[in-house]
Amino acid sequence: MSIQIVNSQPYPDQQPGTSGLRKKVTRFQQSHYLQNFVQSIFNVATELAGQTLVLGGDGRFFNPQAIQVILKMAAANGIARVLVGQLGLLSTPAASALIRKNNAAGGIILSASHNPGGPDGDFGIKFNTANGGPAPTSFTDAVFQASTRIHQYRIIESDDIDLSAISSHDMEGMQIEVIDPVQDYAEMMAQIFDFDKISSIFKNGFRMRFDAMHAITGPYAIEILQNRLGAENGTVINGIPLEDFGGCHPDPNLVHARELVELLQTDPTLGLGAASDGDGDRNLILGQAVFVTPSDSLAIMTANAGLIPGYQSGLKGVARSMPTSAAVDTVAGQLGLACYETPTGWKFFGNLLDAGKITFCGEESFGSGSDHIREKDGLWAVLFWLNLIAEKQQSVADIVTRHWARFGRHYYSRHDYEAIASDKANQLMDQLRAALATLKGQHFGDYRLNQCDDFCYTDPVDGSVTEQQGIRLLFADGSRIVYRLSGTGTVGSTLRVYIEKYQSDPALHSQDTQLALAELIDIADQVGHISVITGRSAPDVIT
Ligand code: G1P
Ligand code: ZN
Repeated sequence: MSIQIVNSQPYPDQQPGTSGLRKKVTRFQQSHYLQNFVQSIFNVATELAGQTLVLGGDGRFFNPQAIQVILKMAAANGIARVLVGQLGLLSTPAASALIRKNNAAGGIILSASHNPGGPDGDFGIKFNTANGGPAPTSFTDAVFQASTRIHQYRIIESDDIDLSAISSHDMEGMQIEVIDPVQDYAEMMAQIFDFDKISSIFKNGFRMRFDAMHAITGPYAIEILQNRLGAENGTVINGIPLEDFGGCHPDPNLVHARELVELLQTDPTLGLGAASDGDGDRNLILGQAVFVTPSDSLAIMTANAGLIPGYQSGLKGVARSMPTSAAVDTVAGQLGLACYETPTGWKFFGNLLDAGKITFCGEESFGSGSDHIREKDGLWAVLFWLNLIAEKQQSVADIVTRHWARFGRHYYSRHDYEAIASDKANQLMDQLRAALATLKGQHFGDYRLNQCDDFCYTDPVDGSVTEQQGIRLLFADGSRIVYRLSGTGTVGSTLRVYIEKYQSDPALHSQDTQLALAELIDIADQVGHISVITGRSAPDVIT
């Protein structure tokens, strides 16, 4: 056996955030940095020994090197079998599906999601448990603790494995299967959605564009949309995964998916525009002159679930992250469905999905998903919308406006203040926390503050408590302002302010979201002292 025990020193900054450990590539390239974290995972996830591990990443810079290191460390840590995507590629949803299908004990996914890639970009690593979902906080905390104590790691001395072709290998008794990253996932989608019906709209001339943003979903989208569903060639744009995402920011929002937005504007025959992020778990849905907010998308999916073959037997319940708008709550209320509010981050949906309490869940940050896997799923959301369009024979804009007419409209916007000094960001949150007791009952123009708190979540399944998940200002008319600090940034702190207002009367619906929210936006600044503390007069990104 050629197992090496390598001595190393702990790095103090290996605390996983909202979705795993995310740092600059240059940090990961420091000697033993990746190895320390991977060994910490193996030290905590002792259930992996003798079992199957799923491994893959979004193809960003450093993905190939990291895959080889992890394979050699897995072999040295007693893993029996690794399923690794060809070329080391797997989208996050495909990895989740593979873990579940193969009864793997867990998975390691290499991605920094929507963060930029390349030598100066970001890299990331996350661990998913046997249910296919992101590891719970108790696990990531334990990994962090292990990383602070680490003094050696185990690795096999061996040549790199050739991952370019579907093949099997043996590494010191560990079986390595290089698998097609797309096929199982595509099959699963064909089970959930009515592929015949969707094919028929493409046959009848329906046109769309899917922007893979030079990231992982290119091969998935080409196989599903073009090869299986018959969408015209050229439907998938930026479909070849590049290690630096072509220098772009693979974040499917109105700012970074500018090319897609412009395509829709210049070609009125396109009925749908969609995009996904670096690792394929996020989605953006556009129609002609309409952007479907992720919060609305979740509500619309919930209201129309019966039209999709995979959900015809009904929904068990739904969940949204706390900052996500209450649009889905309104639908759930009318349909008599249970609706849960969880902290930000997909991992909080896992227990609810496993316990059979919910079928759909979503986040305002372009995440939607269902109980088919334990991650959010970008292409799943796109196929859901295609299936809806095919069933209803309505445009995206019609589907949205009819939904608002029935359930009312939740105006919603997120304002991000990026890379602010961490001490300023913490000061802002601390002063808000300190002011909570005095704020309640105050009037701000027409808005009366009914309730305010620092969101605390008690998991209904295991009773675990998660504190300090964001300051909520809840107004008497249902309007909300939420403040929280991002857990995924890699430079300074990012303050996110979420603003929401409900209007039930369709006659009063206006086009301009920022205008509809203007007074609340002022209140958010006044109460949070944002401009005073940060010195910023406007957010960097408005969604
Ligand atoms: C962001 C999103 C959050 C999402 C996470 C991972 O986290 O806001 O909803 O789960 O990315 O994709 P944040 O940076 O806000 O902590
Ligand atoms: Zn992602």
